[in-house]
Amino acid sequence: MTKRELAPAGLRHIAVVMDGNGRWATRRLLPRTAGHKYGVDALKSTVRGCIAQGVPYLTVFAFSSENWNRPADEVRALMDLFVQALRRETRELAAQGVRLRFVGDREAFEPPMRELMQQAQDLTAANTTLVLNVALNYGGRWDIVQAMRALQASGGPITEQTLAQHLCLADMPAPDLLIRTGGERRISNFLLWQIAYTEFYFTDALWPDFDEKALALAIADYAQRERRFGSVPPQPEAQATGLRVA
Ligand code: FPP
Repeated sequence: MTKRELAPAGLRHIAVVMDGNGRWATRRLLPRTAGHKYGVDALKSTVRGCIAQGVPYLTVFAFSSENWNRPADEVRALMDLFVQALRRETRELAAQGVRLRFVGDREAFEPPMRELMQQAQDLTAANTTLVLNVALNYGGRWDIVQAMRALQASGGPITEQTLAQHLCLADMPAPDLLIRTGGERRISNFLLWQIAYTEFYFTDALWPDFDEKALALAIADYAQRERRFGSVPPQPEAQATGLRVA
């Protein structure tokens, strides 16, 4: 086996907007839904990449609150695909040490799908290699509003910290890196609160073409970034000479 490539220290959480499935399929004269199907393989490869590189959290945008506005047959096909993927892949993900979690408003899903989601979460609950958060019927604005409601109901003080404690991904570090495939450069109501200091990586690759190798490129790009979190980089010269730098 080749030497295991580890992600840069401090890269703990990657978020992904998996965009471009429809275009990938259309270019091949296939129905858009075929793109979503191949998108599952891209996700499996990305999961393998995160595990290989020791990244402990991966959050993927699989279905947004706004995706219900797509043609009914595409929404139906996506729901069928989620059910099928849950049935087929949960066991293998569990064997890889993946803990599956679903984030978003589950109320809109049909009971069999909700049951499968719960089963997958229960089956993988003790796994610690990689937490895979699948955002389904998720919206960043919805997340903030549901957190606000929960906080209000608790009667606690409203601060950044207490609000953050009620958000969907409250019990894990904020994403360090957000990848969006498909050439668009926008957030599309994904993790609005949590990405305050996240590094963005946009690629023209369409999601079904994304894989472990493409992930490694994104991580290599991230490794070049200087993260300052609103602060300034260390200025050793100024400190040494006592000079002030404007
Ligand atoms: C966006 O591409 C993609 C989606 C709305 C669906 C993403 C779902 C998957 C990749 C399947 C994942 C499966 C599981 C089980 C989580 P698009 O259709 O908007 O592409 P386009 O911009 O080319 O039209």
